[in-house]
Amino acid sequence: MNKVQILLKFAEKITREKDVSRLLSLLSDVARDILDADRCSLFLSDMKNRTLWTIVAHGVKKIEIPWNKGIAGWVFQNGKSLIVNDAYSDYRFEKSVDLKTGYKTKNILAIPLINRKGEVIGVFQAINKLHGNYTEEDEELLTLLSGYAASAIENTALYKELNKAYKDTVLRLSHAAEFKDKETKNHILRTGLYAREIANYLHFDDELETIFLATQMHDIGKIGIPDAILLKPGKLSIEEREVMWQHTIIGYEILRGSKSKLLQIAALIALEHHERIDGYGYPYGKKGDEISIYGRIACIVDVFDALISNRPYKKAWPEEKVFEFLKENEGKMFDDDIVKAVLHKKDKLLEIKRRFKDEYKGS
Ligand code: C2E
Ligand code: SIN
Ligand code: SIN
Ligand code: SIN
Ligand code: FE
Ligand code: FE
Repeated sequence: MNKVQILLKFAEKITREKDVSRLLSLLSDVARDILDADRCSLFLSDMKNRTLWTIVAHGVKKIEIPWNKGIAGWVFQNGKSLIVNDAYSDYRFEKSVDLKTGYKTKNILAIPLINRKGEVIGVFQAINKLHGNYTEEDEELLTLLSGYAASAIENTALYKELNKAYKDTVLRLSHAAEFKDKETKNHILRTGLYAREIANYLHFDDELETIFLATQMHDIGKIGIPDAILLKPGKLSIEEREVMWQHTIIGYEILRGSKSKLLQIAALIALEHHERIDGYGYPYGKKGDEISIYGRIACIVDVFDALISNRPYKKAWPEEKVFEFLKENEGKMFDDDIVKAVLHKKDKLLEIKRRFKDEYKGS
């Protein structure tokens, strides 16, 4: 059979198949037959464990590798396809997999699986072409099939479930800082809710969920601040303040370097949420547009919530005084447009504050 005949043979089945795991194994079969490969594997990323695992693999049990190891790991990290015609002479090849499975890999074609947002979610790999080497035509064909596989995966409950578990993990992590703190349970959630309102008003429509989640991680770096300072009931000394400033850099260090867009934005927010428009903020004294829009939004919602709430070191301010403070600091601490958005959404923000009141833990 030629390639077109193979495609036609499978095309109808592919369009009819509603069950994702059957669809993925079907796609792997098509890929194997069209590419004249001995076997194919479809790796998906596991964000939590930083691994790639085979959701489909011909002839071998589930394989799980660190997401930066092997040919598959390289393709995942770089988001680029790769043809390797002599696996054992390529430094990227992970020989340990063959050792475990007893298989002898000769050549590999590997293609990244890319979702609608352009994020790499896995790798489609064809192993051991039976006759000759992989060609650019093979690469194109497997790229086409990878597109199907990626959208099928994206639409599955499994993927949504993984994604949810991942977001959940991230949010639990942001609350870790709060556990140290006798502070209000809902401050973190409220900052996310306010930020989403403001982002909505400013038409960041594609990023509402990301901003909602990422803003909640702004103070994650407080986890690295000694309790004697973090939990001090009164005013901080100058020295203590300087230690406290480090929570921005600590948060950035915890969150940075991820492939996830969510964590990248969260890292930026952790770093920038105490910068000021006029350049007198910390840690770097960034000015105006040097501060990302995410950082500028997080800054104002954090201060808004701090002022309107009781803190162990201060009493809540009256609402009117809080809004006066925000106005006075337009163009100093805060971005003008964002202050306007806050004033516009005033009722909505106060409603959020009322709905998610502070619950005091312990005594
Ligand atoms: P936080 O409580 O979440 O406060 C966030 C920001 O809200 C503060 O950033 C500050 O810009 C603003 N803010 C809070 N309370 C007041 C206030 O009474 N007056 C004014 N004008 N602004 C206020 P900042 O100052 O960089 O503080 C960062 C974090 O350091 C605070 O987060 C809090 O955890 C801690 N912190 C700051 N000052 C004190 C203090 O005097 N005592 C203690 N124990 N902690 C403090
Ligand atoms: C690799 O990606 O380097 C090896 C994985 C495999 O042989 O399936
Ligand atoms: C938090 O960790 O942000 C809650 C405690 C506080 O901001 O004072
Ligand atoms: C990835 O799998 O690396 C990206 C997924 C995400 O950003 O949520
Ligand atoms: Fe902070
Ligand atoms: Fe805060």
